[in-house]
Amino acid sequence: MKVSRSNGWVLALAAAVLVVVLAVIGFGLLGGDSPPADSASGDPAADLYQRRCAACHGGDLQGGSGPALQPGSPAAARAPDELRNTIANGRGGMPAFGDRLTPEEIDGLVLLITGG
Ligand code: HEC
Repeated sequence: MKVSRSNGWVLALAAAVLVVVLAVIGFGLLGGDSPPADSASGDPAADLYQRRCAACHGGDLQGGSGPALQPGSPAAARAPDELRNTIANGRGGMPAFGDRLTPEEIDGLVLLITGG
């Protein structure tokens, strides 16, 4: 009798713990889509673009003082190597970013432009 009563208490406690744990996990999963606090969009390439490129190419890649880079633009249709080369070495009014960005960062920007 004493044993089963204490078992019941343990079970109730275990159930309560389980509910709390599941609630925490569920909350974590629901919150999983929200970007980390240090990132505006959760996409490092998009954030980099906003910091380094948007001033000339527009906040939505629509173009400005620099040409449009959005899907359907001539730039988006170019070979990734050509885009990489332009970003790294510059061209005309386009500054060279090869000494300021890592190859991985440049690849991310190329993917952003080609939509890959
Ligand atoms: C100071 C303004 C400026 C900034 C900042 C800038 N660009 Fe440009 N970009 C230009 C201009 C102007 C051109 C056109 C160059 C030319 O062909 O004469 C250009 C061209 C390009 C092209 C080639 C487009 C094509 O059709 O071949 C790409 C790709 C590009 N920029 C990507 C970027 C990325 C990515 C960044 C950020 C890392 C960036 N640009 C930052 C001004 C800028």
